[in-house]
Amino acid sequence: MSRVAYVNGQYVPHSRAAVHIEDRGFQFADGVYEVCEIWNGTVVDMEPHLDRLDRSLRELSIKSPMSRAAFIRVMRETIEKNRVKNGLIYIQINRGVARRDHYFPSANVAPSVILTSRSVDPVKKAAAGAAGIRVVTTPENRWDRVDIKTVGLLPNVLAKQKAKDAGAKEAWFVDNEGFVTEGGSTNVWLVLPGKVLVTRPADHGILRGITRSTVIKLAEAKGFRVEERRFTVDEAKQALEAFVTSASGPIMPVIQIDDTKVGDGNVGETAKFLRKSFYETAQLTKLEVAGTMPSRC
Ligand code: PDD
Repeated sequence: MSRVAYVNGQYVPHSRAAVHIEDRGFQFADGVYEVCEIWNGTVVDMEPHLDRLDRSLRELSIKSPMSRAAFIRVMRETIEKNRVKNGLIYIQINRGVARRDHYFPSANVAPSVILTSRSVDPVKKAAAGAAGIRVVTTPENRWDRVDIKTVGLLPNVLAKQKAKDAGAKEAWFVDNEGFVTEGGSTNVWLVLPGKVLVTRPADHGILRGITRSTVIKLAEAKGFRVEERRFTVDEAKQALEAFVTSASGPIMPVIQIDDTKVGDGNVGETAKFLRKSFYETAQLTKLEVAGTMPSRC
């Protein structure tokens, strides 16, 4: 079954899905996005992801293109049409199509709406989680509103490619005072003695990860103390464990930072435990309606 994308009100074959050349997302990265995990036929933490999408739109004065109910319907249809049981759904909203001009277009230009969904092999994902990842550090060079989930991701792309070129999976941005901000597409965590977890406060310097918020709740429910404070690369290298969180992870153990092994260089018990327990705390929304056939595209 071939893949289908939702583009501006229509379901189209993924291979031919397109926006106009003067779409502002294309020309100015003038758009926002969300990625939600689909786990076992459910959307993970859907409402908080949609709340953050609304916030990103508000912060950039892009009008919301449709109601929450309509959004959820399109999400369900996109997932169903692509037969995704485990994987991701991607949502992007751009300011719209207009003659290239930096100023916002007139208010009657409709935002562009794109949704795609794809399967991820749960066995491969579990294997990646069991193996852990290596990360490299890189200077923070992004603007100071990375709390808005915009598609302006070039520094993240370059940082992650730097990681890949070094044989690692993720890059950690480090600010000019030596503190870790976040990963190229993840939030960063340390595990310290005494069941303590440390993660940077969600100020304007990082994205307030939805997975991060769920892990805070999960960890507290499991008797950990969560310290939201800044930490340096040196502190991270001396931590018992480190891990990163994101919708696509959701929890990925870190076994090496630059040339330094974290702990004994193996996946730590805390990351393993939180990874196993994650879906106890995450909100799981079942979107399939029992007995209904996916509508034809
Ligand atoms: N990235 N920080 C950055 C820079 C991110 O891009 C992401 C998510 C996160 C984690 O946020 P959340 O837990 O809400 O997924 C933190 C997505 C997965 C992506 O760009 O693919």
